[in-house]
Amino acid sequence: MSLPAVHRDPAMPERVTIYEVGARDGLQNEKGIIGLDTKLEFVQRLTAAGLPIVEATSFVHPKWVPQLADAADLVARLDLHGATPYPVLVPNERGLDRALDAGVTHVAIFGSATETFAQKNLNSTYEAQFAMFEPVVRRALDAGVQVRAYLSMCFGDPWEGEVALDRVVTAGKRLLDMGAYELSLGDTIGVGTAHHVEAMLDAFAAAGVPTGGVSTGSTGGGGEGSRIAMHFHDTYGQALANTYAALRRGVTTFDASAGGLGGCPYAKSATGNLATEDLVWMLDGLGVTHGVDLTALAQTSVWMAEQLGRPSPSAVVRALTAG
Ligand code: HMG
Ligand code: MG
Repeated sequence: MSLPAVHRDPAMPERVTIYEVGARDGLQNEKGIIGLDTKLEFVQRLTAAGLPIVEATSFVHPKWVPQLADAADLVARLDLHGATPYPVLVPNERGLDRALDAGVTHVAIFGSATETFAQKNLNSTYEAQFAMFEPVVRRALDAGVQVRAYLSMCFGDPWEGEVALDRVVTAGKRLLDMGAYELSLGDTIGVGTAHHVEAMLDAFAAAGVPTGGVSTGSTGGGGEGSRIAMHFHDTYGQALANTYAALRRGVTTFDASAGGLGGCPYAKSATGNLATEDLVWMLDGLGVTHGVDLTALAQTSVWMAEQLGRPSPSAVVRALTAG
């Protein structure tokens, strides 16, 4: 397998954390139901490929996302106290109860920057979502469980159009202030472009939220580091350019999905996440350390594509495995 030549960019962080979302963001969007054994093997292969944190599933309402209705069964078969954390999505106290019963160590709440998406994704108003999350975060922290926060529709919303920066910053700060260790800014429908990313990060920095440096999260170094991660979907092919812009601003945590699986069943035109392999290829070329074995990862995505019956949309997976 070929690897990119390294041209180290001194403006880049030396190391980043790749937060793998394929088993959750990827599989929540599949038309068919994937079997439990396949999901387990996917998570285990991602772990073996060196992904430092692997989001495993969601404790959402099983009628809303039937693809992940087996969340408790999957979590029961994971090593929850090994080196790799397996966060799960939790929208409300009912989801938290289920997640705590399953013994998870990391949860993620997921808010919306817009009114319409809060209604469509959470059956809540924009304002009511914060009241829904507050006891989730408080009780999770009391139980010694780490809490990450997502914020969706940060770069545009299919129903409301452009989303103002100050709206995103206000919503994001409310989630961080509840006690989340990190805020992942979601370009749910992939409409963001590079300068928009820079402006977004500058707006958070101006509001006092550290956007660069080592993450304060479980896989980071602690201290005064970054509270921001980026979560790009690649709908318009902008995810890598946007990642590059965020790297130049010092961001050190990036969400990505093996093979480029993904989307959101409640967001029109949401397609795959930034493919983890595409991210790894670019980081390798930039000389940014990440700890992931690209060969093992690409083999995992090829295997998963066989399970799903269609090729991976990742350019790097296709290039590396072309006959
Ligand atoms: P609701 O219907 O309003 O719930 O759904 P409710 O509170 O009115 O409760 C109704 C019934 O559901 C009750 O049961 C509850 O106990 C039960 P009953 O008393 O009638 O028998 N219930 C639950 N059961 C199991 N697990 C639960 C749960 N909650 C209530 N957690 C709810 C509200 C939030 C639950 C629903 O809207 C939901 O599950 N939404 C999740 C949608 C979702 O998963 N979307 C995809 C993930 S977000 C994403 O992909 C974006 C992201 O990747 C970032 C980005 O790209 O931007 C993160
Ligand atoms: Mg997503």
